Amino acid sequence: MGEIGVFASIVAGDTFKYYSEGEWRVSSSGKSVPIINPTTRKTQFEVQACTQDEVNKVMESAKIAQKSWAKTPLWKRAELLHKAAAILKDHKKPIAECLVKEIAKPAKDAATEVVRSGDLVSYCAEEGVRILGEGKFLMSDSFPGNERTKYCLTSKIPLGVVLAIPPFNYPVNLAVSKIAPALIAGNSLVLKPPTQGAVSALHMVHCFHLAGFPKGVISCITGKGSEIGDFLTMHPIVNCISFTGGDTGIAIAKKVSMIPLQMELGGKDACIILEDADLDLAASNIVKGGFSYSGQRCTAVKVVLVMESVADILVKKVNEKVGKLTVGPPENDCDITPVVTESSANFIEGLVMDAKKKGATFCQEYKREGNLIWPLLLDNVKQDMRIAWEEPFGPVLPIIRISNVEEGIHHCNASNFGLQGCVFTKDINKAMLISDAMETGTVQINSAPARGPDHFPFQGLKDSGIGSQGVTNSINMMTKIKSTVINLPTPSYTMG
Ligand SMILES: *[C@@H]1O[C@H](CO)[C@@H](O)[C@H](O)[C@H]1NC(C)=O
Repeated sequence: MGEIGVFASIVAGDTFKYYSEGEWRVSSSGKSVPIINPTTRKTQFEVQACTQDEVNKVMESAKIAQKSWAKTPLWKRAELLHKAAAILKDHKKPIAECLVKEIAKPAKDAATEVVRSGDLVSYCAEEGVRILGEGKFLMSDSFPGNERTKYCLTSKIPLGVVLAIPPFNYPVNLAVSKIAPALIAGNSLVLKPPTQGAVSALHMVHCFHLAGFPKGVISCITGKGSEIGDFLTMHPIVNCISFTGGDTGIAIAKKVSMIPLQMELGGKDACIILEDADLDLAASNIVKGGFSYSGQRCTAVKVVLVMESVADILVKKVNEKVGKLTVGPPENDCDITPVVTESSANFIEGLVMDAKKKGATFCQEYKREGNLIWPLLLDNVKQDMRIAWEEPFGPVLPIIRISNVEEGIHHCNASNFGLQGCVFTKDINKAMLISDAMETGTVQINSAPARGPDHFPFQGLKDSGIGSQGVTNSINMMTKIKSTVINLPTPSYTMG
């Protein structure tokens, strides 16, 4: 079968269908949501605008399907995930093409995202069989006042229905990082993909369909946040939400009832450069960390805090590399591609103009065409500039010069965010002390912040999130402990 044949069933006319009860369906709303290509700024795809009734159907079928899915042997659940992973990797080309058109991800990075996603699903299946196949056995007499008369057996049980809401920047990878742990643990899963990225996500979901998951175990609903957003997150059938995105996460956390949340809500990752740092290494990491996918990553380097004594040399080295970045359409695999929406571009421009007005030094000329913003380094950024604190999610990077390390740590800790940070120095002892002092979920020593490898724990402090991700942590988060206690007769009992 050709690629079109494989994915023919997920589209009706010009509009992609949604996935409910194991079938691809057209919404009864008769409405669709357009997906604008960030490069052409024209409608590229359309997806169904699902109704609340359709959400109810999906939830009810997810709830029913979960009961028998949880009883499906663990090795069989793993087998299906391995199958889905292989199908996903086999179809990396059409899925990557969607990523290029929907979110303007450079072609090579788009293909990498799909392969990485397949690997994550397989890894998760393997990790799942190991950690879910084990429980604990405890005896009562280790706690004061108890005889050895109670044997406690614990195992991990699924939560029920998990709602996954990934962001636009990794609509496939950050979807499977929620889907795979949920499914291996015996939960059913409802996916609400981001608007930009929805079509890539629907293709990915079809790979799970082709793998043969029972109907209702995985579903995918598309539509307008204003119509079904709160309805989904506050739905009584939902037992857990795994969300990656922006401020919306804070609003969700305030509204939902008593269910576990896994949230990753962005960051203002700081890069601290000490006087003894390898400045070439720092410069290449700053450029890679700050400008990959045009800075639209939670873990992008979002502020450089450099010691004044080495700042001139560092800025020169970074500028040389920024000058070599290619700017243009994602199809040509350019380094810098259009940002996801016009409103994002306007927001970025607002930060840049504010910094200009307040006296930042522009290392390049500010240039924008449509959603395409040329890479820009802003030197001599001061505390009163919005860009010192806010997350641009674009190819613009502020540099703050500091006169001592404490100033850098202070800036990092004063942020509402606390996702990651990094420090460049040859002194490992100093690096460890700085890592301890930085109020972030992760500190990278001598490298740019990064989420991967996908089995590493990934978490944010403060407004950056709730809980910890990474394969193992996600599986654990999507389960509960169940104990069974065997009570023996009192010691006076004789076997005679
Ligand atoms: C973060 O920095 C602030 C200000 O410099 C400091 O008071 C605080 O103790 C630091 N946090 C940690 C964990 O060291």
